[in-house]
Amino acid sequence: MASEIRDINLWESGARKIEWVRRNCPLLTMLHDEFSKTKPFKGKKVALSVHLEAKTAYLCLTMAAGGAEMYVTGSNPLSTQDDVAAALVHEGLEVHAWHGTTDEEYNSHIKAVLSVGPDIIIDDGGDLVHMMHTEFRDLASKVIGGCEETTTGILRLEAMNRENKLLFPMVRVNNAQMKHFFDNRYGTGQSVWDGINRTTNLIVAGKIVVVAGYGWCGKGTAMRAKGLGARVIVTEINPVKAIEAIMDGFDVMPMKEAAALGDFFVTVTGCDKVIDEEDFAVMKDGAILCNAGHFDCEIDMARLREIAVESKEMRNNIMGYRLSSGQWLYVLGEGRLVNLACGDGHPAEIMDMSFAIQALSAKYLVEHHGELKEKLIDVPDEVDVEVAEKELEFLGKHIDVLTPEQEAYLNS
Ligand SMILES: NC(=O)c1ccc[n+]([C@@H]2O[C@H](COP(=O)([O-])OP(=O)(O)OC[C@H]3O[C@@H](n4cnc5c(N)ncnc54)[C@H](O)[C@@H]3O)[C@@H](O)[C@H]2O)c1
Repeated sequence: MASEIRDINLWESGARKIEWVRRNCPLLTMLHDEFSKTKPFKGKKVALSVHLEAKTAYLCLTMAAGGAEMYVTGSNPLSTQDDVAAALVHEGLEVHAWHGTTDEEYNSHIKAVLSVGPDIIIDDGGDLVHMMHTEFRDLASKVIGGCEETTTGILRLEAMNRENKLLFPMVRVNNAQMKHFFDNRYGTGQSVWDGINRTTNLIVAGKIVVVAGYGWCGKGTAMRAKGLGARVIVTEINPVKAIEAIMDGFDVMPMKEAAALGDFFVTVTGCDKVIDEEDFAVMKDGAILCNAGHFDCEIDMARLREIAVESKEMRNNIMGYRLSSGQWLYVLGEGRLVNLACGDGHPAEIMDMSFAIQALSAKYLVEHHGELKEKLIDVPDEVDVEVAEKELEFLGKHIDVLTPEQEAYLNS
């Protein structure tokens, strides 16, 4: 099938973005060189749905260098960059994605990449796997396995696995240490504030920031808000995480109390309706709301649109909603992942680690095809360690090595 993108003439700008990423992704470049020689994916069709910007494009090119036939789509209507999609098509890959897809177009792009009968699936949030198990069930037996990038996708896979419904092995890429320690915490921490700052052009110092969820992403988001000079309030449902937030120096309270206090709100829970109508009603005039969790359901946007008596676009990616009580609430990026809808996503060096794990996990699936009994598997420790060792090497750092005596002591 022919690619479906916005405009092939945009390719040069996309190619420049990928070139910048290539310079800053030494792990992927190392794998690109290795795969070019060893061709681990020769003859394999790979369907990929990840936020389609330059780092993802470089992962696609790395797998293509390893012999994969790549079929690429985006994982969120607002995170696809049209020039990057054009650059991939210019390189000969098949892409079905553009920025601002309707739900119907988004689903039709997913169908396009699945209809080729993929051997491997690279998913981010679980949409590809879900459709493979429903509309494309008859092609599922051809799939040797897949990799899932994010926490929300893994929650969906775990639910399917519990009911014994998974039809092929899936690797929990997010759970690798070299993924969530850095991507979710430092990647989200930096890129969320990059997205908010470049979109609002407002000061964060001295403001009150409410972070909903103190998981890996929430910790990074709160830490960087504090670094920018904000007073940070955390909301949680898990008592242990709540204590961790308190010990890290943040105030903790229910959203129902925090709603009246915040200047900025960032939801990053993976949960539904974390900010709802009751919360909107008590918010300050001018409060800024955004979401960094995978789906756009954390802020109840549907209800906000219903109850607003007036709405208007204030700046690119800022929509204002006036409530009957008079105050304006401003939502960034339609409540979709703020770091991708309003920015370029995580820094390149972070995605270098995450995507090295993705590429090596896909290679692991090819090499161990047939032996994988469990349907939901973790990234093998040796892959985590290999990526960590290489990363340290690129950082120019050395660490101590256990002496035989120390090893014996630790094992005794
Ligand atoms: N923006 C990005 O680039 C990016 C990157 C990685 C992950 N994600 C997504 O971000 C979300 C969070 O990921 P994570 O790795 O931090 O997950 P996590 O499981 O480590 O943390 C989620 C936290 O939210 C808390 N929580 C759940 N429901 C809540 C509620 N109603 N109110 C308050 N707290 C609640 C949980 O107790 C948990 O501590 C997921 O949807 C994930 O897919 C986004």
